[in-house]
Amino acid sequence: MRLTILGGGGFRVPLVYSALLGDHAEGRVTHVTLFDLDQGRLSAIARVLAEQSEGVPDAPVVSVTTDLDEAVRGADFVFSAIRVGGLAGRAADERIALAEGVLGQETVGAGGLAYGLRTLPVVTHIARRIAALAPDAWVINFTNPAGMVTEAMGRVLGDRVIGICDSPVGLGRRVARVLGANPREVWIDYVGLNHLGWLRGLKVGRRDLLPRLFEDDTLLGSFEEGKLFGTEWLRSLGAIPNEYLHYYYFNREAVRAYREAERTRGAYLLDQQAGFYEEMEKPDTPPLTTWRRTLADREATYMAHNREAAGVGERAEEDLESGGYEQVALSLMRAIARNERATLILNVRNRQVLSVLDADAVIEVPCFVDAAGAHPVSVDPLPYHAVGLVTSVKAVEREVLAAAESGSRATAVKAFALHPLVDSVAVARRLVEDYTAEHAGLSYLR
Ligand code: G6P
Ligand code: MN
Repeated sequence: MRLTILGGGGFRVPLVYSALLGDHAEGRVTHVTLFDLDQGRLSAIARVLAEQSEGVPDAPVVSVTTDLDEAVRGADFVFSAIRVGGLAGRAADERIALAEGVLGQETVGAGGLAYGLRTLPVVTHIARRIAALAPDAWVINFTNPAGMVTEAMGRVLGDRVIGICDSPVGLGRRVARVLGANPREVWIDYVGLNHLGWLRGLKVGRRDLLPRLFEDDTLLGSFEEGKLFGTEWLRSLGAIPNEYLHYYYFNREAVRAYREAERTRGAYLLDQQAGFYEEMEKPDTPPLTTWRRTLADREATYMAHNREAAGVGERAEEDLESGGYEQVALSLMRAIARNERATLILNVRNRQVLSVLDADAVIEVPCFVDAAGAHPVSVDPLPYHAVGLVTSVKAVEREVLAAAESGSRATAVKAFALHPLVDSVAVARRLVEDYTAEHAGLSYLR
């Protein structure tokens, strides 16, 4: 089995490789091809993987390339984890929105739209190369904004592209932990769009444990989302929102904290990551220790501005562990390649799951996965307040998809203007102006 990782010089690749190293079963991944535009980043990550594989006799063989066609040809699975425009692009997405007084964030609000507009033409090109050179390959998309990107690639590759995110898994695990349930044995009722979903139930067998959480204020306030949103608001909602909904429910506070911060998250990571890759160029740098130290720092500072806005201090030790997207990716691959049935929260076409969206809208929902792919499970309808957000944001995503396809600037402006976190058409116009002036990758807009 051959796995190709697009964005193979990326910082989180060792997480994926370490998950692969733990798989010794028949039909496991035996070859990993890392594709990246940047040879230096590839070499750095290859050094980390080499150390990880020491003493593992059946470790997947790693090769690196800067040629997309070579990377994709003959692949069984393709992970797409690219960052168009790099962290400098992310920092600019964030800064430009914040300068207009609206949220500047990697995937949510104006910043996410700019990122989407830059990314969609690139991932569409990649999808076409995969369709031509590895038509039977399954594509697992981590590239953000993951919902939009999965929908765009799906227009070329159909249901062979499946989007993943670690945030619903992380949320499910935190809730399971406080309820004393085994995260691997629970059924999580979660639905929405990527970074815009709600956990409405957590079942062991037929029993829903979530009501117990709502009965106990101490438990409810004891984990990340409880602290971020406050128990009173969680009670009002009767559900646990994805942490990214903090940007909606506490928008003013989040925007203020982001504007007052010395640097945006993107700018912070730009420096941190530059330091990491630079260090990795020195021959005596210990690859794995250096990578682990950098990862720990990245996780400890994750969403720090939101926590600051909520006045809740540092992330608790037990909430630090990421959702483990690499385990989701591995389970997904195994389920498809070996028909090992699994239930995973994934980004797939809606079909008939949410009646307020059309069949082709990509949503985030629990799916049964087998050799035939991911099949979304039917869930209870969303309450109106969630329907409102999900349908407005999907409408915006559709305008971004249309703008990326047609190159229409007016359509891009429409996307920004319709976003619930952009409060004026005039602001939307200025944002498109400023983003196109900043990003060469948006020069296709006319
Ligand atoms: C979570 C989200 C990803 C997002 C990342 C940002 O893992 O699921 O979609 O890219 O956080 O984390 P960062 O450390 O880059 O701010
Ligand atoms: Mn995500």
